[in-house]
Order: sequence, then C-alpha cells, then structure tokens
Amino acid sequence: MEIVKAAGLKKYYITDTYEVHALDDVTFSIEEGEFIAIIGTSGSGKTTLLNMLGGLDTPTGGGVWIRGNSLKDMESEERTIFRRRNIGFVFQQI
Ligand SMILES: Nc1ncnc2c1ncn2[C@@H]1O[C@H](COP(=O)(O)OP(=O)(O)O)[C@@H](O)[C@H]1O
Ligand SMILES: [Mg+2]
Repeated sequence: MEIVKAAGLKKYYITDTYEVHALDDVTFSIEEGEFIAIIGTSGSGKTTLLNMLGGLDTPTGGGVWIRGNSLKDMESEERTIFRRRNIGFVFQQI
C-alpha cells in the first residue's frame, strides 16, 4: 500500500529581492514498510521536502497524500490533528 505520495510538488520562496525554487515538480511515492533516506547537498531542499511531507508547511503547487489523505484539502486544524495522529517528526534543531 502506498503510504506517502507527492505529485507535482513545488515550493517557491518568494521575497522582494529573490525567488528560490526549493522544490520544483517533485513526484514520487513510498510504499508502506519502505525505509527511505533523502540525501543531497546543503540547500538542495531536503528540509523543505520534509516540511511538506509532514504537513508543517504548505506547498506552492502540487500536493502530498498520506495514506490517501490529501494534506492540502484539510483545514489547518484538521491537518494539525492528522499530523498528531499519523506523523512523527524529529527536528534537526531543537
Ligand atoms: N524560509 C525560507 N525562505 C527563503 N528561502 C528558503 C527558506 N527555507 C529554505 N530556503 C531556501 O531553499 C533552498 C532549500 O533549503 P532547505 O530545504 O533548507 O535545504 P536542505 O535542508 O537540503 O539544506 C535553499 O536555497 C534555502 O536557502
Ligand atoms: Mg536541512
């Protein structure tokens, strides 16, 4: 069973002076029981991707599905409750 799906996922950080395309059309899925490592150089978008997968931040485009549940189709409070019940997060900085 597919436990995590990202489709056309985009995250653009836009300010007055610059625009960073941290994620630009990311699509993949993870099956239940799979063990995944995301590797890449500093600044390549790992934290941004994890924030989107964990429902901690909202994407500029595309979406994330956890066990078939679309995070972007939840209200903020609903997403918080879903996160509490389904997702574990260990932060790099505490
Ligand atoms: N809140 C933010 N505002 C603007 N740019 C950001 C923000 N967070 C990350 N970035 C930029 O997005 C890119 C990806 O960063 P990040 O996801 O932290 O990469 P990693 O975790 O792989 O080091 C970098 O260019 C970074 O500077
Ligand atoms: Mg990081």
